[in-house]
Parts: sequence; structure tokens; C-alpha cells
Amino acid sequence: MRIVSVVGARPNFVKIAPLIREMRSREGLVSILVHTGQHYDPVMSGQFFEALDIPAPDFNLDVGSGSHASQTGEVMKRLDPVLASTAPDLLLVVGDVNSTLAAALTASKLGIPIAHVEAGLRSFDRTMPEEINRVLTDAISDLLFVTEETARENLVREGIDARKIHFVGNVMIDALETSRHRWERSSVFESLALAPGDPYAVLTLHRPSNVDDTSRLTTLVEALQELARDLPIVFAMHPRSKQQLVRHGHLDAAALGSDRPVRHKGLIYIDPLGYLDFVALLSRARLVLTDSGGIQEETTVLNVPCLTLRTSTERPITVTHGTNRVIGTDAHRIVEEARRTLERPPRRVDPPPLWDGRAAQRIVQILADSPAARLQRVDSRAIESCAPAATWVPSTAAARAIGAEKP
Ligand code: UD1
Repeated sequence: MRIVSVVGARPNFVKIAPLIREMRSREGLVSILVHTGQHYDPVMSGQFFEALDIPAPDFNLDVGSGSHASQTGEVMKRLDPVLASTAPDLLLVVGDVNSTLAAALTASKLGIPIAHVEAGLRSFDRTMPEEINRVLTDAISDLLFVTEETARENLVREGIDARKIHFVGNVMIDALETSRHRWERSSVFESLALAPGDPYAVLTLHRPSNVDDTSRLTTLVEALQELARDLPIVFAMHPRSKQQLVRHGHLDAAALGSDRPVRHKGLIYIDPLGYLDFVALLSRARLVLTDSGGIQEETTVLNVPCLTLRTSTERPITVTHGTNRVIGTDAHRIVEEARRTLERPPRRVDPPPLWDGRAAQRIVQILADSPAARLQRVDSRAIESCAPAATWVPSTAAARAIGAEKP
């Protein structure tokens, strides 16, 4: 069985790592990896491949940044010949980024069956680009792997055949557990001059709704500066947040060209960290404030209190079974909730059901057991008529699989 996996953005890399490892350990299963290039900075991409032992992609589509439409369109245009020439039995996508939807759409138009890992999550907020990506990807997927029971309920409510849905656990937690011995030895604390036991909070913000809106960003920064009177806050900035912070005068323009931490009014502004350093930093924080999805899950398993600076979450189990609270973006409420949480941290919780580090194993077993008859092969005429892929370097395994010589 030949499986093409497509990844593009930072959270995808974390999710695909355990799946690639599992697929490559199985005989009779050929795994081909495509990187769309949606994230391209070494801190957003290369570092993750290294830290998570992900083999170099067999194809790199180099799409880069752009509007949502052009990013999605470019991935489709460049992936089309790759899928046609590799003729996989299945396309595997993870998460909810533009690359996920673009890859799923491309495969569906070639008649290639699709497996979606982390299916069924819903914020019910259609202003979020990720929500649109989730709903559409699920609608055209043939195998849907869910991390929590509410996701299954969402899919069934949307009319998806229950036989396609599999509750398997959470591959993000597989990645976290597999690399625990490495991140526990991280030296990030020394580089931030944090002594063992020093209290600190971690902050991440990158949602367009929080960082692209001038008044919202200013309100958030002011609230966090107020909270930083109580304890230092390490702000690991996504590139788009860094650009906006400089544009709105919260950070000196000189910070743009530098990767040094900037300390200002109790906040420690740093560039995005690699996976191992970031998880290490999360693991010892007194509090995490974020608008990310995955961090809500990682803090649940690390037993670190998390305040989500959004009005909704697509991961309700992190609230009902974890340490997460969704508190919105009102300045007064952020400071109040953070102080209350620091005074009375939530009790320790067990991980949610099946978040045990073995999700990838379950998924790959289900893929391997999928009856071949259920997986239609791509029409060979489509392959013949297709132009060769633009920028790609097949790995030895991929070259063998598609009968091409490695250049
Ligand atoms: C994307 C995902 C989001 C995910 C996030 C993780 C979509 C719709 N959104 O958002 O779900 O949580 O990744 O980080 O797919 N940039 C760089 N270097 C990079 C990548 C991006 O400087 O390597 C900057 C560019 O200015 C770019 C902007 O960040 O325009 C946004 O990047 P993009 O990938 O479009 O969306 P994210 O905000 O990263």
C-alpha cells in the first residue's frame, strides 16, 4: 500500500511525526512525504523536522505565504502532478491548516481516497479559516480519525457515515511522549535566565482575530503587561505576531532583524522556539495563555493550567477533562482569571481517554487493515496525461515506489 502524506504548517509536523515513524516500520507500506512549504522559516519548519526525527520530505512544493486563496490554490496546482505521478492508494492529511484542505481537495478530484487525522473538531465559528478547512476536509474524507468523542458526534450530525469514523486518541500526545526524554533535558531555561523553580507564564498569540486587529492586540498586550507585574511572561512570537507587534509600536523595529530575547514591561519577547524547547518551557510554567489549538491539548497532558484567549474551542475535552478554560479577550477578565488560577491552580487530572501515546499505532493498523476494494486506485489515464512534478526530489523509497530514478 502506498500512502502520500501532506504537511505544510508547524502543527502538521508534530502530528505527522509519529505517523511517519509507524508507517515506515511496517512492511508492505510505502510512505511518501510531501511538504507544501506553507511554513518555510527554519524556526517554523526545519527545526521541527530535526527535533521530531521526520525524514526529509520526498517532495517540496515551496508555496510560501500568500492570501488564503492563493496559498490553497498553489498547493492544489503543485500537488496535482505529484499525486498523479505517485498514484497513492491513499492520501493522509492531518489537522486543519490551508495545506490540509488543499491536499484533500486535490486528491478527491483525482479519485484518491483520503484519511483525515484529527477529524470532527468544531469551534462552530465559521469566521475562523481553520473551521472552514475542518468542515470541508471532513466532508470529502473516507477515513476520519478522531481524538475525542465529541468529534464523532459532530461528524455524525453532519451526515458522515459512522462506519468511516474511528476514535483513536491523539497523535500530538504520541509526539510529546516519544520525545519526553529529550525535552526534559532542554537547556531553554538557562538561555532565558530562568532558574529552577522560578515562576513564569508562557504566552502565544497568532490568530488573525487577535493579532491583526490593532485595538484587540493593544488591549491584550496591556492586559498581559498588567499580569506581568505578578510573574514574568515569556511570549514566544509567531512571525505574524512579531510583525504586528512592531507595526503597532509594542516592539522596537530592531527586534525584527534580531533573534535575541527582548524584555519589556515584564514580558520576555522571543522568537518561536523549536519543538523540544517549547514543550520543556510549557511543562514547568505556572500558567499558559494562548490562542493556539494544540497547546490546549499539550497543557492538558502536562497538567499545566491553560487560559485560552478566544471565545470558543474546538477541543472541548481540554475543558471538561483537562486544565483548560476558555476566557475570551477582555483585558479585565484575563488579569482576573490569571490571578485566580495562579492562586488556586486546578487539581491534577488524568489524560483524556486514549491520549496514551499509541494513537499512530492504532491509525496505521486501521489503514493497513482497510480492504483494498474500498480504496479505489487513481485512474491510470490521469497519470499518463499528467505533466511531471515541478520541484521534487524523490527519496530512494519514493523513487522505488514510483519506478523513478533518484536524480
Ligand atoms: C497557520 C494555520 C494555523 C496554525 C498556524 C501555526 C492556516 C489557515 N492557518 O497559520 O491553523 O495554527 O499555521 O503556526 O493554515 N510566516 C513567516 N514564516 C513562516 C510562515 C509564516 O514569516 O515560515 C508569516 C508570513 O508573514 C505569513 C504569516 O506568517 O504571511 C502567516 O502564515 P500562514 O501559514 O499563512 O498562516 P499562520 O498564521 O502561520
